[in-house]
Amino acid sequence: MTETNFIPSEYSNEISDGKVTYKSPSNIALVKYWGKKENQIPANPSISFTLNACATTTSISYKKLASKASDYSFDLLFEGKPKEDFKPKIEIFLNRIEMYLPFLKDFHFTIETSNSFPHSSGIASSASGMSALALCLMAVEKELNPEMSRDFFNKKASFLARLGSGSACRSIEGDLIQWGNHADTDGSSDLYGIKYPYELHPIFKNYHDTILLVDKGQKQVSSTIGHDLMHNHPFAKNRFDQAHENLTKLKRVFSEGNLKSFIDIVESEALTLHAMMMTSLPYFVLMKPNTLEIINKIWVFRESSKTNVCFTLDAGANVHVLYPENEKEEVFQFIKNELVVYCENGQYICDRIGFGAKKM
Ligand code: PMV
Repeated sequence: MTETNFIPSEYSNEISDGKVTYKSPSNIALVKYWGKKENQIPANPSISFTLNACATTTSISYKKLASKASDYSFDLLFEGKPKEDFKPKIEIFLNRIEMYLPFLKDFHFTIETSNSFPHSSGIASSASGMSALALCLMAVEKELNPEMSRDFFNKKASFLARLGSGSACRSIEGDLIQWGNHADTDGSSDLYGIKYPYELHPIFKNYHDTILLVDKGQKQVSSTIGHDLMHNHPFAKNRFDQAHENLTKLKRVFSEGNLKSFIDIVESEALTLHAMMMTSLPYFVLMKPNTLEIINKIWVFRESSKTNVCFTLDAGANVHVLYPENEKEEVFQFIKNELVVYCENGQYICDRIGFGAKKM
């Protein structure tokens, strides 16, 4: 598939007004996307667990205009209140996708959106937010073209979400989503995320992710700036090669259920992401002292308990604690006893692997 496959021809249906709602989850990368080319094309492939609890619910009410407008016509409500400062980001997104959704200027849209996770929790809402918005717009397109297949709908929703925020393309489906061309993965694409197409050992079913909110403040460095700093980064080529190799290694890990190797790859990926930030120019550190305290506690506990708990990180200070279903009691007790003390106001979110967005 190429970009042009997503440009529609004539629509078969006429619609005047209606409303669609989607709930779309966040995701946590195991192999990280960090660095991109033009048009949100990733510099390396990535893979993520789709989450379940952390999600954005978005509704779009649409009403056909008397004639095509010269600009986008929309109102935006965040958690029930008008939110003017979100509008420019949405306008940029609409501009990027207009050639793929030529009806955008034919309607007035009222976009209402809310997150399941607490406001300013330090949890990025771009993956869940942009995927929910892309899905709602696809639902409108499906009304205009009811013959569209489910497979095409999901691919195009992922394709559009990617143009809003790269990682958002991994939030349409679950439970394991891969994005970016990878020689060892059939069907993989830079344009959209695909459901991981190979065997997944049952140990990965119902995997847990307890998100420890170490620092609930605004991100110091936006991911846009972070991705840009991978241009001319001294370690960029090695890093991009490593991501390909880690995906190849994970294939075996996923089929055999080898948690020891899983942990090695996932923790190394998290630390490499932060190492890239620390070695760019300008350099920056997003981990906080409590991030490191938690990492060290996890290592000590894993050794003594012989469990398979491990961590991963996003572009921030919060820690995602990952563990299998059959260890949940022991690990959750450890989290409560030893890790919650490092969270801002003792806050954490219990999440687990999920199965993708839902139409409401
Ligand atoms: O989707 P963006 O542009 O916000 O980038 C997100 C990048 C990481 O979250 C740090 C890694 C990833 O693969 O999700």
